[in-house]
Amino acid sequence: MATILPSEKQRFIDELIELLKIPTISADSKYNEDIKKGAKWVKDALASAGCTETEIFPTKGHPIVYGERIVDSNLPTILVYGHYDVQPPDPIELWDNPPFEPIIKKTELHKEGAIFARGACDDKGQMYMHIKALEIMVKNDELTCNVKFMIEGEEEVGSDNLELFIKQNKEKLRNDVILISDTGMISNSQPSITTGLRGLSYMEVTVTGPNRDLHSGLYGGAVANPINILTKMIAQLHDENNCITIPGFYEGVENISKEEREEMTKAPFSIDNYKKEIQINAVYGEIGFSTLERSSIRPSLDVNGIWGGYTGEGAKTVIASKAHAKISMRLVPGQDWEIISELFKNHIKTLVPDGISIQVIKHHGGQAYVTPTDNIGYKAAHRAYAETFGVEPIPQKGGGSIPIVPLFEDVLGTKSVLMGFGLDSDAIHSPNEHFGLFNFFKGIETIPLFYKNYAKLFSQK
Ligand code: BES
Ligand code: MN
Ligand code: MN
Repeated sequence: MATILPSEKQRFIDELIELLKIPTISADSKYNEDIKKGAKWVKDALASAGCTETEIFPTKGHPIVYGERIVDSNLPTILVYGHYDVQPPDPIELWDNPPFEPIIKKTELHKEGAIFARGACDDKGQMYMHIKALEIMVKNDELTCNVKFMIEGEEEVGSDNLELFIKQNKEKLRNDVILISDTGMISNSQPSITTGLRGLSYMEVTVTGPNRDLHSGLYGGAVANPINILTKMIAQLHDENNCITIPGFYEGVENISKEEREEMTKAPFSIDNYKKEIQINAVYGEIGFSTLERSSIRPSLDVNGIWGGYTGEGAKTVIASKAHAKISMRLVPGQDWEIISELFKNHIKTLVPDGISIQVIKHHGGQAYVTPTDNIGYKAAHRAYAETFGVEPIPQKGGGSIPIVPLFEDVLGTKSVLMGFGLDSDAIHSPNEHFGLFNFFKGIETIPLFYKNYAKLFSQK
């Protein structure tokens, strides 16, 4: 196993900290220059790690960074995918340290310390493991596969331009397997390999009542209040069993076999720790399913944001003219995100009373994905984790989405292996996001073993 020298460890951390200082927030055009700076930084990092060719591809949105090192055309080719863009850091006041001033602190789960910064885990830290793994393999002359890197800057806003890029660059991106570290694992003592991602449909609803904000004394009780109405409409999207009420929503959803459900119960999971970690006294969700099932193999619908009316200091008596909500649905195999988006739109319109008008827009979305466990990519990952952790990894379906992954398969024809090293408690998308140093270095050690095992299994095919 490639060991990392202590002096190298410090340098790897310092480099990652440099990258984390660049606020590559893809959702906010104020940061477009920083995005460019981030792309350039990644390109240079790829070149100094050993990529012989590197290039930045501009898109209509944010640039895509590409790099490759081709060893021998007879060897298999791994395409590494990751993203250098990050989520906005708000609410900023809840960060213990500024989100783009990385700091290392110990936590209960990360006894060796963790880097706190926006993007530390999702996905700069995890993406950077692959660049450092390449550096080590090149230095030790043990790169057993050709490697291509495609690191994008729009994952957190739906990867719209990446889709076009892969369609136009099929030959350039030709590969045998796609390797991604943008998910998590169960715990530092129980590694797992993500075998499923949920799909996503993201919608926005605006309801409008009167043409202007009204005095709530003069008009209160006599006109439909858009905020009252919108919240009532949203409340009707779940029934008393917490099932989603949109007609046709569950059509096509595969029934998970008894065996698979039983298999899921074998994963170490403590409902008490789950509740404790996010400080709730009870879980909630679809009747008839466990917490793990609800957050992985079952679809869900959540309001992500809702606004309207007066939200400033003190009290203002007003009936707002408009109310808005952003609503996302997590989807599972058998559901098509475009169809679900249409069903949502049609259904929510039926819930609008007279006196209110509605406008529904569709943001991004994507299909669910299941990775097979009987191919050499999965097997190579399994062996790699088993070797570095000394524990067999277990397959586990995840609840998050990476919409480009199913498109990779459609367009490039190859499967993805999801080798994540983050923990659910690393607070991705939340204040105080962090990534354990143990996880970072374990990743850097495990990745070369994936290459080694993959090349071996590939040659035996
Ligand atoms: N890395 C996450 C996805 C993820 C995290 C999958 C943990 C499984 C476990 C990714 O960056 C992400 O946040 N995806 C978005 C979707 C995207 C279209 C904005 C998501 O899942 O909300
Ligand atoms: Mn990510
Ligand atoms: Mn993310």
